[in-house]
Amino acid sequence: MKGLILSGGAGTRLRPITHTSAKQLVPVANKPVLFYGLEALRAAGIVDVGIVVGETHAEIEAAVGDGARFGLRVTYIPQEAPLGLAHAVLISEPYLGDSPFVMYLGDNLLKEGVTRFVERFAESGPDALILLQQVTDPSSYGIAELDPDGRVARLVEKPKEPRSDLALVGVYLFTPAVFESVKTISPSSRNELEITDAIQHMIDRGLRVESHRVTGWWKDTGKLEDMLEANRLILGTIESDVRGELHQTTIEGAVSIGADSVLERCTVRGPAVIGERCVLRDTFIGPYTAISDGVTIEEAEIEHSIVLANSRISRLGARMTDSLIGRDCVIARSDGRPVAYRFMVGDSSQIGIL
Ligand code: DAU
Repeated sequence: MKGLILSGGAGTRLRPITHTSAKQLVPVANKPVLFYGLEALRAAGIVDVGIVVGETHAEIEAAVGDGARFGLRVTYIPQEAPLGLAHAVLISEPYLGDSPFVMYLGDNLLKEGVTRFVERFAESGPDALILLQQVTDPSSYGIAELDPDGRVARLVEKPKEPRSDLALVGVYLFTPAVFESVKTISPSSRNELEITDAIQHMIDRGLRVESHRVTGWWKDTGKLEDMLEANRLILGTIESDVRGELHQTTIEGAVSIGADSVLERCTVRGPAVIGERCVLRDTFIGPYTAISDGVTIEEAEIEHSIVLANSRISRLGARMTDSLIGRDCVIARSDGRPVAYRFMVGDSSQIGIL
């Protein structure tokens, strides 16, 4: 069995963070989302993985390399534009050949990994296995309608008036029978070849499409709230590992602090993770916070937030919460006159003021 990770596309919903970088590389608990997918495939015994890449290919390739450090053999499959999930399958046929495969959306995170589904696919031998989970906002997802016997009857991509609340999770298992369907379907109204239409085509051809309910948590990390929630869920599983230097600093609960970081007069209440080469002074880091490498924080209180690499935060004056701060950002109190806010903020940013 091979793996196919979709890591192309444009990260419009996480802008401005993804104006300049791949959404699959935004870290959750200080690890790029994409790496969780690669690890899940390896844990399921898969070694050969194709990664579909788009305009952010250089960054993805720099992060993943040849896959050896994950125990994988990675092949990159360039997609000329984000023309849809089924288009990504179509262009991957030469790589996948006659092997069955697991398709994994590079911005998805599944607590239980994929091992159980790979085993079930091998035992049951359907033409496709899709994973479903109940959601509260079905119009944001591909939705499956089941018939009274629980068989998949109809799939609709982001329906305006959903007839079911069962969303397609971003992990799919296919035999090569899917290729005929991705070659036959036409682009949708948003001009994408939809994987939901390809699977519907398989059902209509009388092929066996099985579904399986995902019981553990699952997150599509495409939006800020989902990103923060994924961060919370992963941080909830970490163990304490303190490598940095601590001076007059209190650590409570599960906290990981990377090498060459220095904390002076701080309190860190876990679960929280602080990367390498960070400097924190007179600061409170509250639960569910992930601070990436090279960050400096002084006289601040931060909780339930993600701060990306090399940013500097000082003297906030109020606690910062529910926030995602990009790379190389500066948030600081200035003492100059007039007493005023001074911003340099990227496109599509959001700032909440007291
Ligand atoms: O997360 C689950 C949902 O994922 C499913 O319920 C939907 O049926 C499915 O269409 C998909 O919806 P999204 O709107 O979240 O898909 P998105 O455009 O975010 O793309 C998912 C991943 O695939 C992402 O890592 C980018 C990559 N991608 C996307 C497209 C459209 C590609 O590599 N190539 C593409 O052409």
